[in-house]
Amino acid sequence: MKGVILAGGLATRLRPLTWVTNKHLLPVYNKPMIYYPIQSLAKAGIKEILISSSPDHAGQFANLLKGGAEFGVKLYYSVQDNPKGGIANAIGMAEEFADRKKIAVVLGDNIFNYDLKPTVEKFKKREKGAIVFGIRMSAMESKHYGVIEIDKTGKVISIEEKPEKPKSDIAQSGIYFYDNRVFDFINKLKPSLRGELEVTDLNNFYLQEGTLECDLLDWWIDAGTSHDELLRANNLVAEKIRSGEL
Ligand code: G1P
Repeated sequence: MKGVILAGGLATRLRPLTWVTNKHLLPVYNKPMIYYPIQSLAKAGIKEILISSSPDHAGQFANLLKGGAEFGVKLYYSVQDNPKGGIANAIGMAEEFADRKKIAVVLGDNIFNYDLKPTVEKFKKREKGAIVFGIRMSAMESKHYGVIEIDKTGKVISIEEKPEKPKSDIAQSGIYFYDNRVFDFINKLKPSLRGELEVTDLNNFYLQEGTLECDLLDWWIDAGTSHDELLRANNLVAEKIRSGEL
């Protein structure tokens, strides 16, 4: 299984911090933000990771992270020319890198302490399918994300992108595992109303064929959504690191 970290985009909501740099390079406590998803994938035993970033900042990622030896992994780099293409468009650019293997995708501003290793091992043995990772939050908050509805056995019933009336309190995080058919599904996607190829539409292909599972995280921060979330991430991560939870 290979790893893909999406670290592109314009991060307009974080300006002026992001006028001259990429948000995934901003500090979160004692490390640049991008360190956290790399460490999470490395801890899960994933040895080859693609960092997909924006044309203006790709060189900064390479200067910072180099070949990946610091993390015990091999890093590869790619550039998403269209920063407004959406998450599924960015995943689609990893086809050559994936080389028909399964992939674990993590958004570069997602920080979590969940141990992905058991899920990676389980997923490697599955013939086909995908896994999304959800996090419980209030309906007031979850409507700002994809919302995942599951039944009593944990089976996914629906995923809706930022619904007016959320059907559950489980928000879709930015961690996704896919089999090697993901690129065929991406080719079938049409842009949403906001003009993006949506990861929720992609996940719905797997849901429709009954091969989508959901694992629940107990702690997760989407550090790059606003100045306040970035500040909250800095404080929470500092606490977690000091207490040894991260
Ligand atoms: C994207 C996805 C959404 C998911 C979120 C996680 O939202 O579309 O389903 O819950 O990432 O961060 P966006 O940040 O593109 O609005």
